[in-house]
Amino acid sequence: MKMRKVKVSVIITVLLVSLIFSVGFINNPVESVVTLEGVKTIAHRGASDQAPENTMSAFQKGVDYGADFIEVDVHVTKDDELVIIHDLTVNRTSNGKGKVKDLTLEEIKQLDVGSHFHADYKEERIITLNELLEELHDKVGIVIDIKYPELYIGIEEKVANIVKDYPNSQIFIQSFDFESMKKISYLLPNVEVGLLVSRKQHPISTNEWDEISEYMSYIGYNIKLLRERIVSEAHQRDLKVLTWTLKKKPQLNKAIYLGVDSIVTDYNDWFLEEHVLIENPL
Ligand code: G3P
Repeated sequence: MKMRKVKVSVIITVLLVSLIFSVGFINNPVESVVTLEGVKTIAHRGASDQAPENTMSAFQKGVDYGADFIEVDVHVTKDDELVIIHDLTVNRTSNGKGKVKDLTLEEIKQLDVGSHFHADYKEERIITLNELLEELHDKVGIVIDIKYPELYIGIEEKVANIVKDYPNSQIFIQSFDFESMKKISYLLPNVEVGLLVSRKQHPISTNEWDEISEYMSYIGYNIKLLRERIVSEAHQRDLKVLTWTLKKKPQLNKAIYLGVDSIVTDYNDWFLEEHVLIENPL
């Protein structure tokens, strides 16, 4: 009788210990501390959490925070100048109104593109792609995102003519428009060219993968749509993977776990920090 009691209590103890271990394991998934070394860090529209997006201040801060690249969006003015702004219009980010393509550079230069962010930036002006490259071409890599190329006939030649003046700079050129990027890849065979994949273009068919890998050096994917099979398909085809726009730590975790080559983020303080990440977050 005594022997039986001992056996039962041993079994109960073993069960309890295994339960404690498994609960502990579920609650504390394996974590590791990583830096972002080996992953190219790209400051989205410059350090847009620190200064008004797509301005010289935001780009300079991206450099100060140690970003490998700054990402800039380009449009064309009425008088054919390449200017850096994200939207089709100046409405959201300036004190003016109207489409970029209907305004001259002189008109655009009058606009205050800093006050919407903070009064300290009220002197901030829209800058041209030329001005940006003159200032920062040897200080940081530059990702040029051509917005709506279908609206601006000849934008590819304009961008290529400027970029050719900086053969030693690290420049990536990207767009959601495949034909436009194909053209860029002919005009600038030594520059890394990327296709951004929109929700509409996702998922990519086998034929599309074939075409993309013939002309591009990377694909850009929204982190929300990115999956293991997309990264491995890209890597098998010698395409690098860029993912945008990381705004939360779990997204950073996912990007690192998936093994992307570059990340676009608004959070520039991430570049210098160490990160505690879950080893298998999916
Ligand atoms: O690099 C891709 C990313 O720039 C696209 O996002 O919001 O800047 O148009 P968005």
